[in-house]
Order: sequence, then C-alpha cells, then structure tokens
Amino acid sequence: MCGILGYTGNRQAAPILLDGLAKLEYRGYDSAGLAVADGEEVRIEKAKGRLSVLSERIEGGKTLAGTCGIGHTRWATHGEPSDTNAHPLWSDDKAVIAIHNGIIENYRELKEELTGKGYSFYSQTDTEVAVKLIDLYYKEDNGNPLSALTRAMRRIRGSYCFVILFRDHPDEVWGVRKDNPLIAGQGKGESFLTSDVSAILQDTRQVYYLDNMQIARLRGGEIRLFDQDGNPVTKELSEVTWDAQAAEKGGFDHFMMKEIHEQAKAVRDTIHSALREDGTVDLSSMKLTDEALRKVEQIYIIACGSAYHAGVVGQYVIEDLAKVPVRVELASEFRYRTLPLKGEGGLAIVISQSGETADTLAAMRLAREHGLRTLAIVNVVGSSIAREADNVFYTLAGPEIAVATTKAYSAQLAACYLLAIQLAKARGLLLDESGLLAELQALPRKIDDILDEKERIRQVAERFAQANDAFFLGRNIDYAVAMEGSLKMKEISYLHSEACAAGEMKHGPISLVEKGMLVVGILTQEALYKKTASNMLEVKSRGAWLMQVTHRGNDLLKEDADFTFYIPPTDPHFAASLAVIPLQLLGYYLAVARGVDVDKPRNLAKSVTVE
Ligand code: F6R
Repeated sequence: MCGILGYTGNRQAAPILLDGLAKLEYRGYDSAGLAVADGEEVRIEKAKGRLSVLSERIEGGKTLAGTCGIGHTRWATHGEPSDTNAHPLWSDDKAVIAIHNGIIENYRELKEELTGKGYSFYSQTDTEVAVKLIDLYYKEDNGNPLSALTRAMRRIRGSYCFVILFRDHPDEVWGVRKDNPLIAGQGKGESFLTSDVSAILQDTRQVYYLDNMQIARLRGGEIRLFDQDGNPVTKELSEVTWDAQAAEKGGFDHFMMKEIHEQAKAVRDTIHSALREDGTVDLSSMKLTDEALRKVEQIYIIACGSAYHAGVVGQYVIEDLAKVPVRVELASEFRYRTLPLKGEGGLAIVISQSGETADTLAAMRLAREHGLRTLAIVNVVGSSIAREADNVFYTLAGPEIAVATTKAYSAQLAACYLLAIQLAKARGLLLDESGLLAELQALPRKIDDILDEKERIRQVAERFAQANDAFFLGRNIDYAVAMEGSLKMKEISYLHSEACAAGEMKHGPISLVEKGMLVVGILTQEALYKKTASNMLEVKSRGAWLMQVTHRGNDLLKEDADFTFYIPPTDPHFAASLAVIPLQLLGYYLAVARGVDVDKPRNLAKSVTVE
C-alpha cells in the first residue's frame, strides 16, 4: 500500500521519481506527490487523483529542478484522498518533509503531546503527526537527522516506512522501516529508496533489503545503514534477478491480460525450480527434508484473498494425496484466534505474492511464537514474510503489477501441488509419482491452449456487461476455484458475485436466483460431477443462465447449459490450474466491457500492508 520512492544523485530527480512512481501506482492511486530539493529550497507538488494529474501539472517533472527528491502514490488510510492529505507532508518551517506507507497507531496521543508543544496540524493524516514528531527531535538535537529518527522510532507505534528529506541536508534522502518494505538501490553516483524494486529496475539491480527498525541515509551514490540506536550496520548487497521488461505492458492493453498470458511460464518455472534432472521433486533448497515432512501431523495454511483461495485448493490436494489434516485460515482471523496450536508436528504454510501482507505476516509470527515451523510460499524475494519464515518456497511468477492476481495465484497452486506430492512420497503414500509429475508438467501447455479460446469468453462477458449479480458454484476443488473466479469478477468489474459450495445453494442463497442471472458452475471433479450437475439444474429451473466449465464427455448439462467451456483433461488434483483460466478471462472481459480500469480497481491496492 502506498508507493514510495526516493532519489539522490546527479540527474534531475523529478522525472526519475515520476517514472518510478508509474511502476508503483498499483500500490495506491488516489493521490500523488513529489518533493525535490534544489539547494536550500525544497519544492513540493501534490495532487488528488492518478499520477497523471500530477505529472501534467508539473510538465513531466520539468518544472521541479533538483537532483534529490522523494515521491509518493497514496492509498488513503487516515484522511480522505485530497490535495492536502496527499504526501509529502511537512513540518511548519519545511525543515522536515516526508512520505509514509503504513499506519501510526498512537497518532492521537502523539498529536495531543505535539499540540501541547505548540504544533498545529493542517491535514487529517497520521503521517503529519510523525513528521512533526521527527521535527521536534530534529530541532532539539541541533539538526541531527539520525538522532531525530532514532528518537522518533522509539515513540511511534504501528507499521511504517518513511522516506524523509531534511531541508538543511539537501543532497540526502533518509529512510526508516518497521513492518513495511523498504529497499535501498545502489546506482553509479546515485541511489534510490523504494517500497518495491520494480520502480528502480531500469536503473539498478544492486539492492539492500532494510531489516525492521533500520535506518538508511543516501547521499549521491553512498548508502549508509544504521540500527535503531543509530549504530552503523553492514549488510551485503543483493542482486535482483527480475527482468526489467517484466514490469512493462509489452503490447497488451492491461497488465492483467499480460499476466494472464504469462501464467504458463510462471507455472513452468515454479515447477522446474523444484524438480531434479531425473524428474523427481527436490525441496532441499527450501530445507524441507523427507524426514521433516514425515514428522508433520497437522498443517495450517494461512493467507488472504486469492492466496487464501490457492490455499483452499492446497488443502484438498494435500489431504487427498498425503493424508495430513489441513486447516486453511484467513490470516486476518487466524491472528486473533486462540487456537490450541500444535507446535511439535505442526507446519504453518503461509502463502503470499507480495510477502508483505500485514495480516499474513502477523499470523506467521503468531504461528512461530507457538512453536510451529513456518514455510512461506512467496513471490517477492527479500520480502518480510520470506525473511522471517523458517523455510521459503519461492514462486517464480516474476513481478506482478495488476492489482488482481493471476500468474502469482497459478504459481502458488503449482507450489502447493509439489508440496503435496513430496509430502505423500515422504510418508510412503505415493510409490510412483511420475504420472502426477508428468501431468503437472503438461499444465503450462494446456493453459496456453485455453488462452487460444479467449474470444469465446469475451462474448459471454459482453452479454453480461450490464448484469448486477452472479453466482459461482462448485464442490471440493471446484468450490475453491469458484471462490477465486467470483473474487476476480467482483474486484475488477464491480459486478456483484458470490461463490457458493454447490450443495449449500438450497440452504439459503438460491432465493437470490432470478431470471437471466449468470450462474457459473465448475465441474471438473469427476467423483462429484453428477452432484454439482443437479445443483446447476436446480438453479436453471429458477431461471438462471448457466455457464459451465468442465471436461469433454461430461454431458449431463448438454441441453441445459447456455454456454460450455471445456478445459483439457488433467489429473483431478490439478484441475484448478486450468478451470481458473476462463474465469480470470471472464472477470477481465467484463471489466473491459463495463469500462472499468482493469489494473487499478477502485479502493484496492496490490500490497496490503495495513491491517
Ligand atoms: C486478489 C488479490 C488479493 C491478494 C491478497 C493477498 O486478486 O490479489 O486478494 O491475493 O491481497 O496478497 P498477497 O498474496 O500479496 O499476500
């Protein structure tokens, strides 16, 4: 949430900041702002609305001279989106100017204290409170940024990452982090601070991932790191391997469509990262030995949103193949439950694309406190979850820019399948895994085959462009896919949709079915096919317009389905990876038909770093 960028070097800062912010805009897009230091003077420009509004106002950065600056795209937490609440925020004499990502929990108490000391406030943000607290200590400590920041960090509660300019240090950018990501990029004679590496990939791949409660000072090409007491810290530079092109649209109208097309590669790369040359599964790079897998008696899968939906698929597959009981938990719920957690023999699998989701991170910490071993399935290298987990299974989906996840979800499924297979193998329940692995490796080609038929889905979407409601039904793995299909539809097209376990419809939701309502059935699990088919007929007889996603040969709804999409045959454990593709396309095309900004749906942000 909120995109953060800082630059110091010998080039003009404003165009670099605007360029980088364009790559961070998916993190928040209700307002944007820049501050650029030019000698003693710092100029600040900010605007409500998309980054383009700000960019036009400052002519692509031409009107802001200076080689040191900070920039922000906002996803509002405290205070509505407005020019005033947009970041940067400043102290009264503009000695301290900062941008922020996160939430300050004790801002009321700090505000009261600062008011008592003569400070007044012009915005509704918690950020302004932090800026003025830093300013107070800065002045008390005779203009020493490091001691001002360490003192402020001791007082501020919550999660935050600040990037700060001090007017009297015009060639320096400072950054601090607690529980929100901050990365320092090392260029030649220049340096960067950012919340996401995709913003700086075109300039550098050499980065420092700041740890919690660390401070960075950037001056030209020099980066210095400090701990929370102001002591110098030494750290190794890391090399980012992501491709800079991956953060561009590459000829597609939207990132989401590009990422839908990158799914075959994401799945293939993720599978291959965990296969030996002889074709067997190798989880040694994530330090998961067969002995460790044999000891697992209970699994908790913890995640939010689509990552949770991937976890629900994982639950069905792991329980079926490896016979280990699995509970799938929404991280925001799990973190506040008083579960009798099993430490010994318990494994918490935490799934997250960004590796920064606040609830997931907190839930993982809770699991660790209870003595559970934690395994993170994460896409972003060096993210907080990846760094704090005991073991990490990196999905190789590359940078995902569209707010609605597609390729990262597909890669998460692949990771779950590999884990399930190896768990089953280690526990002696799968003597020959070669058949399953062959099916797994065939998935990328089948995903591409489905994409070849996308035009058929576009036509269905056009037909329902004006609809208000839809249902997604399925059982078992198909229910997990229904949840993901429904979320894709509602979050990007704003068409209200619900997923329902097919057998539950008649316990209440069926009363919502009206003539012509779109009901999407997912029928890939042969063992349950007849059951779901009869549930589909129940809604059909109440007037629903039926779309089914199934395999060829499943003919029970031949006469009754209004639209059938056949997915290629596969092992039923892996059917989610294919069934989800037409549903992603349906959500996408509906959003396009309804004229919605597909990549940046209202009210959402890609990386949810607040509770
Ligand atoms: C939906 C979507 C979200 C994320 C969720 C978790 O399309 O992308 O529901 O899946 O916010 O995010 P991560 O995976 O970064 O923890």
